[in-house]
Amino acid sequence: MSDTAHFLPFESRYTLPPVEMIGDSPAEILSKQERIGRLKEERNAVILAHNYQRDEVQEIADFVGDSLGLSQQAASTPAEVIVFCGVNFMAETAAILSPDKTVLLPDLRAGCSLSSTITAKELRAWKARYPEAVVVSYVNTSAEVKAESDYCCTSANAVKVVSAISAERPILFVPDKFLAAAVARQTGRANIIAYPGYCHVHRTIRPEQVLEMMEEHPDIELLIHPECGCVTSCMARVADGTLSSERTFFLSTEGMMRHLSNSTAQEFAIGTEVGMLHRLRKISPDKSFLPVNPEAVCEFMKTITLDGVLRSLETLEPQICVPQETARRAKIAIDRMLEIV
Ligand code: 13P
Ligand code: SF4
Repeated sequence: MSDTAHFLPFESRYTLPPVEMIGDSPAEILSKQERIGRLKEERNAVILAHNYQRDEVQEIADFVGDSLGLSQQAASTPAEVIVFCGVNFMAETAAILSPDKTVLLPDLRAGCSLSSTITAKELRAWKARYPEAVVVSYVNTSAEVKAESDYCCTSANAVKVVSAISAERPILFVPDKFLAAAVARQTGRANIIAYPGYCHVHRTIRPEQVLEMMEEHPDIELLIHPECGCVTSCMARVADGTLSSERTFFLSTEGMMRHLSNSTAQEFAIGTEVGMLHRLRKISPDKSFLPVNPEAVCEFMKTITLDGVLRSLETLEPQICVPQETARRAKIAIDRMLEIV
């Protein structure tokens, strides 16, 4: 039995909110978006949205991006209020980086299955077994877990962060086992000790679905998020040549956006949460984007709606605050990451 097997199963640690279908007409959507635009000015607010947000929420954002880009925006915005259209750990990161701002998360059900796989107490117990190790925490963790960590990282910079750590030091990589395996392969490090966490959405993106897609679309380019359940198998297939190294890429959500400008391909298979397709299709309407798994929907991300954003701007609630001492310690790990990228 591995030294982390006792943490399983993780499914009992979170409740998946239902994904509500919003039946607004185009005119109603437009009217809500206009009201949000006016209120945003009155409140001196900025709206930050993750790439997995509902299409109509992405459309009202001042900035849409990945976890890294959102952290950088939160750290540098001159606005007084940040409306965070994403999930709890992202809003916490914004609150840590901008303690003098009001950070709003329009729906408190916006959690994250991956971040709930490890608590600060569990990390402390795990660290005690490896006193010589450096702790690298994925940004998808609570502020308390970041406060127990040496470095933070996102999917966009995990390889850079790990490479900046002395090769002799073992690394406790928390909490995503798929990302940990991808980083171990990309850095060639044998001393990464992975926590067994995973995202319940990305885990369902399976190697069989990738192979089926490649069989049906032989010229398609494959863009895979490193949280996916298929990542280890796809990397092994790239290494043995059964997947083309010229047409298979392991990328963060923003990495997928950037990849488009360097690619001449017409068709792309997207291995991540389906919200990503909106931005890709918007920026390249002449190209074709197919989800590897069309069922890969993050229930937590979809709790944020136009109605929720409106309510938040009207009431300035719910606010996300991180206790001062936790924020101070977590910021050290986040700042170390931001210095590397
Ligand atoms: P990135 O957008 O940083 O690639 O991360 C994806 C994710 O899991 C957000 O929850
Ligand atoms: Fe968390 Fe997965 Fe949703 Fe991202 S997609 S917020 S990792 S549950």
